[in-house]
Parts: sequence; C-alpha cells; structure tokens
Amino acid sequence: MSLKDRLNTKSQIMPKIEAETTMAHAATGDFLNLKEQLHVLLVEKVNSTPTWINYDDEQQKELIKQFVESQLINNFKNVPLNKFEKDRLIKEIIQEAKGYGPLDPLLEDPTISDILVNGAKDVFVEKNGKLYKTNVTFKDNQHLRNIIERIVSKVGRRIDEKSPMVDARLADGSRVNAIIPPLAIDGPSLSIRKFKQDAGNLESLLKWGTLSNEIAQTLSMAVKAKLNIVISGGTGAGKTTLLNSLSSQIPNDERIITIEDSAELSLQQEHIVRLETRIANIEGTGQIAARDLVINALRMRPDRIIVGECRGAETLDMLQAMNTGHDGSLTTLHANSPRDALSRLETMAMYSGIDLPEKNIKSQIASAVNLIIQISRMQDGTRKITSISEITGMEGNVISMQEIFVFEQTGFENSKVQGHHVSTGIRPKFVDKLKEKSLSIPLEYFNKERKHTYINGANADIKLTEQSSVIKSRLINRNDNIFNQRLQK
Ligand SMILES: Nc1ncnc2c1ncn2[C@@H]1O[C@H](COP(=O)(O)OP(=O)(O)O)[C@@H](O)[C@H]1O
Ligand SMILES: [Mg+2]
Repeated sequence: MSLKDRLNTKSQIMPKIEAETTMAHAATGDFLNLKEQLHVLLVEKVNSTPTWINYDDEQQKELIKQFVESQLINNFKNVPLNKFEKDRLIKEIIQEAKGYGPLDPLLEDPTISDILVNGAKDVFVEKNGKLYKTNVTFKDNQHLRNIIERIVSKVGRRIDEKSPMVDARLADGSRVNAIIPPLAIDGPSLSIRKFKQDAGNLESLLKWGTLSNEIAQTLSMAVKAKLNIVISGGTGAGKTTLLNSLSSQIPNDERIITIEDSAELSLQQEHIVRLETRIANIEGTGQIAARDLVINALRMRPDRIIVGECRGAETLDMLQAMNTGHDGSLTTLHANSPRDALSRLETMAMYSGIDLPEKNIKSQIASAVNLIIQISRMQDGTRKITSISEITGMEGNVISMQEIFVFEQTGFENSKVQGHHVSTGIRPKFVDKLKEKSLSIPLEYFNKERKHTYINGANADIKLTEQSSVIKSRLINRNDNIFNQRLQK
C-alpha cells in the first residue's frame, strides 16, 4: 500500500496522542500569542546576556523558567493563567528555546517510531506500525524551517536554497531527512525515523513475531558459519534492523568493517571499524562512494564486511570480495522477492562500468551469495520474514534457488495478520558447511509442514544468547523477565 493510501485509510486519530498533543499544542490563539511574545523577550534577554553560554543546560532551563515567571508577574499581570497553564507555558518556552519545539513530545514518546511532517500544519506519526495524524502544528513554515535548521546544524549539516535536502542522523541514532522549498512545493518536509532502542537483537524480532525460533536459530548458525547473506525488502520493511540483529551473532573475535551511507548499525562487538560515505561538497567534489570504501575495506584485513545497503557500483566489488575469501558478508537491498533481489544484484553489478558478460555476473552472484532473506511490512504494520531461500548454483543461464522457510498467512482478523512460519521440507545444502565448522541445527527444523514456534509458544527453546555474553547482559539490563527465566534454563 502506498503511503498515500495508508494516510487515507488509517489517519484515525489515536486517543492518547490526541489527548497529549491537544493539551500541549492545539492551544488557543491567546496562549500562542503570549508564548510568542515571551519567546521574543527571551531571545532579547539571551542576546544581551554575554555570560549565557557559560551556563550548562540545566542552569539555562532554570534561568528561562525564572525569566518567564518574572515576566508573567511584572508585565503580563492581566493574563489569567492557572497553575497548569503556567507550567505548560514554561515547559513549551523551554522546549522552543532548547529543543525541537513541537516535536519534543513526539521525540520523547518511545512508542512512536516515525515522525512525518508535511509542512507546518500536518504532522503524522507511526505508532505500533500504524500511521496517525496528530494535532501538533508549527506556527508557520518559517517556524518549521527554523526547527529543521536546528536539527541538522546540530549534526554538522546545513540546509538552504543551495542544498535543499539533507539526510542526517541524530545523536541517539534516529535518522532524519529534510527537504525544503523550492524542491518541496508545499513547504518544508521532515521525516524522522526513530531508532528502535531494543531492536538490535534476534530476541526482540522473535518477540515481535518477525521470525520464529527455528528461523532465528538457523540464521544465527548461518551467520556464525560465515554464509554470505542478502536481506531483501521494501523501504521501511525492517532490513536494516534485521541486519543489525543478524550482526549480533558474529563472534566477538572477528574484525568487522561496516560501510554505510548514513551510519545506522549499532554493533556491540569489540573489534569494529565503522565507515561512512561522503556526499560531494558544494563545488561538486570530494565525494567518497560506497564502492571506494569497499575497495579500501579489503585492504584493512577484515574478517567481515557489512554493507548497510547495496545501491550501485559497490555491488560488484562486494560480490568479488565474497568470492575471494571474505565470507560472512552481510548486506541489504531493495527488492520485492528473492528472485527480484537476484536481478537487482545483476543490474547493480553492471553499474560498476566494468564490461562483464551477463552469464559471468550471474555466476559470480551464484557463487557469492548463500542466502536471501525476504522481509516485508505486513498489512497490520508488523514486519515478517516472508521467505528464506538458499542459492544452490547455476542451471544453464539461470541462478538456481530453493526456498527453505516461508511465512504462511492464514487470514486477517481484528486488524491482525494471522499465520505462521513453516518449513518447506527442503534440507538446505549449507547444513554440510555447518558441520565443517562443528556447528549444527536440529534437522527436524526443516521437516515439511513443521509449524514453527515463537517466544510465547509452548516449546520455545531459545539458545541464541549462549554464545554472546554481550546480548545476555543487554537483556538482563532490560530486566526482561521472560528472557531471564529462559536464559537460566
Ligand atoms: N521487526 C520489526 N518489527 C517491528 N518494527 C520494526 C521491525 N524492524 C524495523 N521496524 C521499524 O520499522 C522502521 C524501519 O526499519 P528499518 O530497519 O530502518 O527498515 P529498512 O532498512 O528496510 O528501510 C523503523 O522505525 C523500525 O523501528
Ligand atoms: Mg535501511
């Protein structure tokens, strides 16, 4: 479903958001006027106080509070405000001065995963996989633009008529994209994809039903056995999140190099070098593409290369790396099915400009890639691995592939997707590769029609954490009782 359809069908207003944001922002004109006047006075005050920058955050907040209180007593006596309104006024002025204004409550709400601002008056959020319109508004497009500038300048980027779009990452890992007029016709547009704090491990994906125990165990072994894995899916399907979670299964004694356009991965291993591409500067020079970084990474004695997303010419270099002893590479790409992923790989490998016959590219793909994982965003907003396929070689001119696990949807009830993951009955070839490395997967996982188990299932058996003390400690930090009980078993 397109974003537009989703907006049309699902823009019912969530009661909780409505309550919070109505209180916080859909205030009366008088309230907004007062706030604006105080804000102007505050800016004057700050500008005329050279020592202002010597105060730390907390002190500045306290000073703003005192300033507003004294203004209310001395200059705005005839504006009737009760205590609740006064507190709210102070809070909003502080947010305006220190934070991201109307966006702050949305940024602070951990249940919100995406914030989408289409001009000053339309702010949408995604919560539990569904899109809702909020009552949050900006005063006007200039106000929104100021907030966008504040966001991007904090991470050392700029946005103006000359470079009217920016892709950046906030300190907490959230990703921000902003685009302003003249490119955005109806006013500045801002999209924030908040970093899901507990999304970096397979256990969370299990809990959310993205995959089953059988799949989690199999993928964990596949990563440990250094299979080359491609994660395929649409935008927002959860590819990066899955990549991050799979990476958690890489043993701690391996040297990992990650290559991304905008660093999103947060790996917990000790030995890791993170590389980020660079876009051209205003004169059009200085670009460092993913391809340059892949080539450089090969000279850094990596055990694993992780390319956040294959988009172009770097694909061929990555395939060649996979074929020349750099096993265990992981990447994602944008495709709608495992077959489609193969043709995407082929097309992208051609972007390199090196003139290779089609058959040659295909056989490079066939011998480089071991597994393709397809992940999708379902109708109800959940993300599911919908298929896992193993590449087995070439038959004539065609890359041969066999599906090992699939998601079988049985229905759609109470706005929830019903169904479960099943095995197709094919025992993958990589089982032998596991044996070589003294790793194993229970073979019954691959029995045809096996109904997979989930974390809440009766016989869920999670052993993923045994080999990773890092994940174990993270789980314990989260005080996740179900998991602690299972870990102790
Ligand atoms: N398995 C999942 N279950 C629920 N939400 C998820 C899952 N994986 C990702 N998300 C959420 O979906 C959004 C997009 O995830 P991301 O991994 O960046 O997608 P992609 O890389 O495919 O564009 C994020 O806000 C993330 O928090
Ligand atoms: Mg991604």
